[in-house]
Amino acid sequence: MNKRLSRCVNIDDLRKLAKKKLPAALFQYIDGVAEDGYTGRSNRNAFSRYQLVPKTLVDVEEIDCSINLLGETHSSPLILCPTAFTRSFHHLGEVAVAKAAKKADLVYALSTVSNTSIEDIAEIGSKRWFQIYVYKDRALLMDFIKRAKDSAYQALCLTVDASTPGNREHDMRNGLVIPPRPSLNTVLEAGLHPYWCWHMLTSPPIVTANIQGDSRLDSSSDPKALLKYMAEQLALNISWDDVAWMMGEWQGPFLIKGILHVEDAMKAAELGVDGIVVSNHGGRQLDHAPSPLEVLPEIADAVGDKCEIIMDSGFRRGTDIIKALALGANACMIGRPYLYGLAAGGEAGVDRALQILDAELKRNMRLLGCTSIEQIKSSCLRKIR
Ligand SMILES: Cc1cc2nc3c(=O)[nH]c(=O)nc-3n(C[C@H](O)[C@H](O)[C@H](O)COP(=O)(O)O)c2cc1C
Repeated sequence: MNKRLSRCVNIDDLRKLAKKKLPAALFQYIDGVAEDGYTGRSNRNAFSRYQLVPKTLVDVEEIDCSINLLGETHSSPLILCPTAFTRSFHHLGEVAVAKAAKKADLVYALSTVSNTSIEDIAEIGSKRWFQIYVYKDRALLMDFIKRAKDSAYQALCLTVDASTPGNREHDMRNGLVIPPRPSLNTVLEAGLHPYWCWHMLTSPPIVTANIQGDSRLDSSSDPKALLKYMAEQLALNISWDDVAWMMGEWQGPFLIKGILHVEDAMKAAELGVDGIVVSNHGGRQLDHAPSPLEVLPEIADAVGDKCEIIMDSGFRRGTDIIKALALGANACMIGRPYLYGLAAGGEAGVDRALQILDAELKRNMRLLGCTSIEQIKSSCLRKIR
């Protein structure tokens, strides 16, 4: 690992390094949130409303972070979120993330809008889920489902909070273009971000890999046209019937990502989903939505014994993970922490992000007096009124 990465001792250090390495518009695309950032801030602030109350004189020599999720044993409660267009942040994108996930024995949920195909990520052999949206074209959906099944993805994760993009004003102000292209600013960018620019210019073009070259589409090779096509395919009139249909097509572990309302959690459990991801998309969609941590206890009470509860949005510290587990989450998903690592140093940067969170989780479990994930309970917490 290079010196700059090893000097990053927490996720915020990786964020600062990522900021230096990326053109400003791309860094803000990762870092930014919707509208006034109420939800973005709540995602972090919610963790501060709980204190961890340690129990002492416990033998904490051995720490076991393993969990059982969807019938499989995993060595940690961490999962890597689906994130779109990751080759914009580092030329190796999803490949770097999947390789790091494999080394750490973590699940990586591949985004439909990835720059590496379903099949190429499967080749790497990491634990893998496939994230999908409800698209208008059922044939396209069935094709994705079949490909994920043929490539032995272990679960299908339907994202339901993004049928229309959140209002991310920084991207508009920055005139952000995805996939990024050399622009008038290129000369300036090359000076400020030489590594990123060099790789952008010398690596294969960034494409929407899962539909690139699809012979059913008119402009099957133009990345911009394909991205526009994918965006237009997002269905606004989605319903629980679509979920039931998709579960029938998939016939395997099925999760819904983007649940915040307890009634939705109950409906999902009634339909027989295997898990829900309590998430506000990292504050990128509906501003003024609550943070997942705030609604987690109510949701865990209602459906904790019926399906797996995974939480994402705002995890930056091992203590955050402990708090979510104590409030009823079975696992925790991270997005930006590994993207900061990716932008800061490719695969080694993702490794670093995962090492940091793993070390913090274990250290703080020791300090709290918990030697296994099952021992992390609401009695470890004290809510600040
Ligand atoms: C740059 C970026 C791209 C994302 N792309 C997707 C996506 O393609 N599909 C999806 O379901 N969620 C996507 N998300 C949301 C993440 O899966 C996750 O919900 C969020 O990042 C969690 O919050 P955190 O970044 O604070 O950990 C994206 C998030 C970011 C930051």
